[in-house]
Amino acid sequence: MITKTYSRDLSACNTFRMKVSCRIFIEYDSIVDLLSLDFEDMLQPVKHIGAGSNILFTRDFNGTILHSAVRFIEEIGGEGDEVLVSAGSGVVFDDLCEWAAGRGLWGPENLSHIPGEVGASAVQNIGAYGVEAKDIIRTVYAYDTVSGEFVHFDVSECGYGYRDSMFKSPGCQGRYIITHVVFAFSRKAAPVLGYGPVKAAVEAGGQPLTPALVREAITSIRKSKLPEVSEMGSAGSFFKNPVVSVDKYNEVLAEARTSIGPDVTVPHYEVSGSDGAPMVKIPAAWLIEQCGWKGRRSGNAAVYEKQPLVIVNATGRALPEEIIALEDKVRVSVRSRFGIELSPEVEHI
Ligand code: EPU
Repeated sequence: MITKTYSRDLSACNTFRMKVSCRIFIEYDSIVDLLSLDFEDMLQPVKHIGAGSNILFTRDFNGTILHSAVRFIEEIGGEGDEVLVSAGSGVVFDDLCEWAAGRGLWGPENLSHIPGEVGASAVQNIGAYGVEAKDIIRTVYAYDTVSGEFVHFDVSECGYGYRDSMFKSPGCQGRYIITHVVFAFSRKAAPVLGYGPVKAAVEAGGQPLTPALVREAITSIRKSKLPEVSEMGSAGSFFKNPVVSVDKYNEVLAEARTSIGPDVTVPHYEVSGSDGAPMVKIPAAWLIEQCGWKGRRSGNAAVYEKQPLVIVNATGRALPEEIIALEDKVRVSVRSRFGIELSPEVEHI
């Protein structure tokens, strides 16, 4: 079935709860229905969205918004302990996590409680607590709006990086509409407990380790740190964690030792750059907190009090301009204090 609405209010279609509208909104609930849409005749620009949980609508959208309600989850095979599961792009990602945990399948449990849908998870390479979508994706199926054909990409062809994929690249943006994703889960225990608080929470109860137990621990950690999008508008992490050179990291450390104290440590993770050079990832949350933004309000927008990486619609009445003004202030502060440019993780439309 296809549902088409005109001049639709998008407040319920973006977790930031921006009160904007689009000229045309089209939702389809099967791949056959997607195929019947006439892409050439659609009011431009066209934007396909998921749950709107990583989007900041900066103004009314004067084109067509597409949304998938393709919502099947199916076990389709697998060898040995591996279980291949196909999920429609419109499945709520956390429903997939619940489905897997309910069957004792390992794989997506660390990604529990992340807002968003399956299609977007494959575009954005969502990640949390040491696991990224790319670790469990096997194949991404899509409709190519340029060739009019169905295509599929092995995970190795998707160009996955930190919150990045080929689907976000300039040449591909808007070209492929993801219809479904095949994930590889496992019956064999494969817990990822490298993140201290997860390990502690899982071990606290002394119960046997199951995907459901890890899912429960992750869910309660997320609830304690991040705003519930049902209660307060946000799009999760607003900024990416910056990756800087070792020299830059040393400059940040020197600055922190001068301004905070000689014993201060700067949280960081060693990573390798695209050319293999050693680089350092510094949590944006730390940089933002050091600049005094944690919990600070600016109009109806605020930097979340428990996790400064998140900008929230504090009153529910924030306008896009207020979110952007706060984003700019935070970026300017971090740039002038540490010489680091934060880039938004949230897509601005
Ligand atoms: N920190 C502070 N102050 C705070 C909170 C955190 O200084 O108030 C520092 C601490 O040093 C802490 C570090 O930041 O150890 C990392 O914090 P956290 O573990 O909360 O993770 P993050 O790097 O801030 C990333 C993801 C989250 C994901 C968590 C857990 C990005 C942009 N964000 O945040 O993803 O849930 O790791 O793995 O990579 C999202 O993408 O929307 C999202 C919430």
